[in-house]
Amino acid sequence: MRLADFTLERFFARWEFAAELLLCASDVEGWPLRELLELADDDGRRRWNELRLGYTESSGDPALRAEIASLYERVQADDVLVFAGAEEAIFALHNVLLGPGDHSVIVRPAYQSLAEVARAAGADVARVELREANGWRLDASELGAALRPNTHLILVNEPHNPTGALSDRATFDRLAELAAESGARLIVDEAYRFLEFDEADRLPACADALETGVSIGLMSKSFALAGLRIGWIATRDRELLARLAAFKDYTTICNSAPSEVLALIALRARDRVLARNRAIVGANLPLLDAFFGRWAGVFEWVRPRGGSVGFPRLAADVPIDRFADDLVRETGVLLLPGTVFADTANHFRIGFGRANLPVALERLEAYADRTLR
Ligand SMILES: Cc1ncc(COP(=O)(O)O)c(C=O)c1O
Repeated sequence: MRLADFTLERFFARWEFAAELLLCASDVEGWPLRELLELADDDGRRRWNELRLGYTESSGDPALRAEIASLYERVQADDVLVFAGAEEAIFALHNVLLGPGDHSVIVRPAYQSLAEVARAAGADVARVELREANGWRLDASELGAALRPNTHLILVNEPHNPTGALSDRATFDRLAELAAESGARLIVDEAYRFLEFDEADRLPACADALETGVSIGLMSKSFALAGLRIGWIATRDRELLARLAAFKDYTTICNSAPSEVLALIALRARDRVLARNRAIVGANLPLLDAFFGRWAGVFEWVRPRGGSVGFPRLAADVPIDRFADDLVRETGVLLLPGTVFADTANHFRIGFGRANLPVALERLEAYADRTLR
């Protein structure tokens, strides 16, 4: 298997820990370990204190799988397989489901591995474009037109990285219908589920909506625990889960023991975990609204509907790669040029999950005042 470089991850390898302020991170401010442990119930605290650092159950700790299952309506613990982050889950899924001659339909832009692993597995990957002019909304009829008799899977990401778009219920229902009619499997990367700005906009989980549907879940974004490296696949298709479990024997075998306990503690305290994370995003969004209001015509943006990222456009006559490079070198503020998503229209990703966004935004504005006015 020959994988192309993961452009975004290579960019972050260069800058994530070198830049002073990340104004483009896709996750929410990571939880301090001490504060997370304070949320533990008696059982969680006992598990943490008495933890033995041996191998763990390869499919995931049973209590953790049960807790993950409780995020869904029709999913049981045995419908869940825990991975070392969603990234491993995506790698396993595409390897197990796709091979030469198979067709898959995936939105663009997208987190690169969602399409790249499919391509490297030999599949023919069709992309359905999300467009700024359409508010980055997924057009189900365009997706339907991309389907072929050999389409094995349809993959979308709701809420979406990098645009923050979130389909409405009618679009999601249409996607589910298209999958059911065509026999293609619907996979939804639900990295930002539970971080919808209006809870009424939350879509059904794919694993609940369709018997063969696959939900990709993770601790990194909405739960703000990227350092745990815990993600999962939830699906009621047990045959698929068995194949994924067999594949995982060749990647990580089993998950990190401390991470499983910490994920369990966080999910049991999910109301408090999510409330804190939503509060950070909720405090940052109005600052971005005001910023983009002041800079209309220079920066254009479609306000996200969920998650902690958006995809504005630099409308000034400066290439975004150069702007972002000069910005980070002069001010220490990192933006993510859209070119890492193969975007050619001068977009960039902005992240609003970090507590230091006010300072980063202030520096961006001062820099914009100097260079773009
Ligand atoms: C949409 C999406 N899916 C999956 C991942 C991978 O997440 P994890 O940290 O669980 O590997 C990311 C990380 O940025 C992402 O944005």
